[in-house]
Amino acid sequence: MIFRQLYDAQSSTYTYLLGCPESREAILIDPVYEQFNRDAALLRELGLRVRYTLDTHVHADHVTAAWKLKQNLGADIALSARYAIPEVDIALGDGDVLSFGNHSVTALHTPGHTVGCMCFVTRDRDRVFTGDALLIRAAGRTDFQGGDVHSMWRSIREVLFALPDTCLVYPGHDYNGRTVSTIGEEKRFNPRIGGDAREEDFVGYMNNLGLPHPRLLDIAVPANLHCGKPAFDAAAPEPAWAPIVTSFAGVPELEPDWIARHLDDVMLLDVRTPAEFNGDLGHVDSATLIPLDELRDRLEEVPRDKPVTVICQSGKRSAMAVQILQKAGVERVANSSGGMLQWVRLGLPHRTR
Ligand SMILES: [Fe+2]
Repeated sequence: MIFRQLYDAQSSTYTYLLGCPESREAILIDPVYEQFNRDAALLRELGLRVRYTLDTHVHADHVTAAWKLKQNLGADIALSARYAIPEVDIALGDGDVLSFGNHSVTALHTPGHTVGCMCFVTRDRDRVFTGDALLIRAAGRTDFQGGDVHSMWRSIREVLFALPDTCLVYPGHDYNGRTVSTIGEEKRFNPRIGGDAREEDFVGYMNNLGLPHPRLLDIAVPANLHCGKPAFDAAAPEPAWAPIVTSFAGVPELEPDWIARHLDDVMLLDVRTPAEFNGDLGHVDSATLIPLDELRDRLEEVPRDKPVTVICQSGKRSAMAVQILQKAGVERVANSSGGMLQWVRLGLPHRTR
């Protein structure tokens, strides 16, 4: 199985990508709205089609990307039936199975943090995605959103701790840089609910956490009750000047044939050396040459009133140039995908010696 653990630093949220190497079908667990471009780029680069998004629960600390992934990539939205949310495509009950190619996950009803919390366990029971139920050496808070500490006790002790000891535990969050644990490890070492803990010990611990309310509570919960659908659809802040695709590395890229058709409207900045500019690959007639090494000192030569596209030999140095220009406040900037090598390969107009 293809597996990636992704991280949103703002909310300390883990998003999980699971994919089938044969069918190329994938699922995303707990995707974050602001990370849509990152996740879409990873799916594209790995050649995967996202079939479902699964949220472990209605989150209070970040907005889900479920709706955005549905709108843009056609992923069906799966969430516990307990929340009765109309935007949900697949209202999950305990034991429901979601397949992606030759793989699947089973939903486990594990209330406590909220009434509708679910964990997702892989078919081989070798990985469980625990959301905000069982955390690494901790457990999700139970003091708001219909939380209930006694339900949490039962969910962890009776449902999650019944999984094999070797089953890897992937939580929804970690605030201390821990990425993975196992059921056996948490049974022994979880300071809230592991070892010899009894229900009254757990209740006493959880009722005295004294946590502040999440910063985004008032924004995240209402948005997540509509699967992350923005209140104002029209306010899509995507770069509109060109069909930009942002890579998983975070670089805005354009196909060279688009640039070739729009050379009157954009600046084409070539950041190779003069020797390369006048060398075998040649250069585009209207290109402006500023070698990468000089770019930081010659920023005033880059216009602010038209978009900038950047090219080099293979697209690597120009990606660095894009970052330099972005840092300098150039907002409309993109990398020419594949550089001059791709430009020439596509037979686009250029001049050689
Ligand atoms: Fe949560």
